[in-house]
Amino acid sequence: MSEKVGFVTMGDASGPSGDIPSIGVGVLGYAFMGKAHANGYKKLPYIFWPPAAIPRLVSIAGRSKDAVATAAQRYGFERYTTDWRQLVVDPEIQIFDDSGPNNLHAEPCIAAADAGKHIICEKPLGRTAAESKQMWEVVKKAGVKHTCAFNYRFVPAIRQARQLIEQGALGQIYHFRARYLQEWIADPEFAMVWRLNRDVAGSGALGDLGAHIIDLARFLVGEPRAVNGLTKTFIKERPAESGSARKATVDVDDAFVALVDFENGALGTLEATRFATGRKNMNTFEINGSKGSLSFNLERLNELEVYLTDAGPREARGFTDVLVTESFHPFYKNWWPQGHIIGWEHTFVHEINHLIEAIVHDQPIEPYGATFEDGYRCAVICDAIVQSSENGGARVPISY
Ligand SMILES: NC(=O)c1ccc[n+]([C@@H]2O[C@H](COP(=O)([O-])OP(=O)(O)OC[C@H]3O[C@@H](n4cnc5c(N)ncnc54)[C@H](O)[C@@H]3O)[C@@H](O)[C@H]2O)c1
Repeated sequence: MSEKVGFVTMGDASGPSGDIPSIGVGVLGYAFMGKAHANGYKKLPYIFWPPAAIPRLVSIAGRSKDAVATAAQRYGFERYTTDWRQLVVDPEIQIFDDSGPNNLHAEPCIAAADAGKHIICEKPLGRTAAESKQMWEVVKKAGVKHTCAFNYRFVPAIRQARQLIEQGALGQIYHFRARYLQEWIADPEFAMVWRLNRDVAGSGALGDLGAHIIDLARFLVGEPRAVNGLTKTFIKERPAESGSARKATVDVDDAFVALVDFENGALGTLEATRFATGRKNMNTFEINGSKGSLSFNLERLNELEVYLTDAGPREARGFTDVLVTESFHPFYKNWWPQGHIIGWEHTFVHEINHLIEAIVHDQPIEPYGATFEDGYRCAVICDAIVQSSENGGARVPISY
């Protein structure tokens, strides 16, 4: 016998976990992010026990009936639909998860908020600051929990970096230097995809990769006062489909660089590209402060390089490679004994657990999780970088 309590259903879980509520989930999109999020929901009760609520994979939406039916079977959803609106009106769904392309964030999330669903939406929140602002205003008004899926906030080493900065271990922050480097479209014969179409994606490397490091800049250092930026499209035409002689126009950036003048006086540089031949998914930053430095690379995500100016005798000082896998490191007590490392997909377990705890215990998503307000602020900075580039790299003040 189950009983509805607020947004969650008590007593759905059978056996000794019968007093743990379950929470219904509907996911839009079954490809890259749909798969990563589905995995996060499934792993959550296995890792965070007892969970605040056990995710129940109610329904998944996609365009192709056969493909979405297969995804439902493979990921363990009870049902599927080819119309995302079915998720929004489904009374058994309490969390609407938007893992669709960027042009499919605003309308579904706004409809879901209007229907009282809690929401996790992939980044970039909207295609522009204006679209993102509208999304943020609607969720705020609806009073639902909302998170923009900046999952790198949930890497243990990055959360540890934030805690060290909060504790003052680095002293005054002077520099934030971040690069997000991929290579997947360096071949001019790589065919057009939605990520290269401005109507669908909003922007290119900027909103896709840049959004992550802009969010990390705000998460780790603080708000920017102004930016200067340059964006570049190296290959302006590509095969419309793989092997086709027909051409399609690329109207988003392939790469960008930006200077960041932070409110707290720190100086930042940001760079993202899909043309860094040899680089697969190198999301890396270094922070230098008056008392020390931190360095991180996603391709070594269990490690945080730390240098503290006063640690030990001066003869022995230098960067130390800290393996962030001790029970006292963020998130780690739920995982394995020290040194038994975790992976990229586990950031989604942490992120989703954070959302579900916020829903069940009525806790804020911020400051450790990203809200739609963070998604909006990131979009303002992206738009400012584009505006700067259009004006030859001129300084553009950031105003929310
Ligand atoms: N957090 C991260 O690290 C990360 C990584 C990759 C992508 N993303 C973001 O996740 C989102 C999705 O990207 P992806 O890589 O999964 O894209 P993808 O192309 O792999 O998948 C998009 C999915 O949306 C579905 N879809 C498209 N139109 C639809 C419609 N009208 N109705 C229902 N479903 C529809 C497609 O069928 C597909 O399942 C994007 O916003 C992207 O920026 C985030």
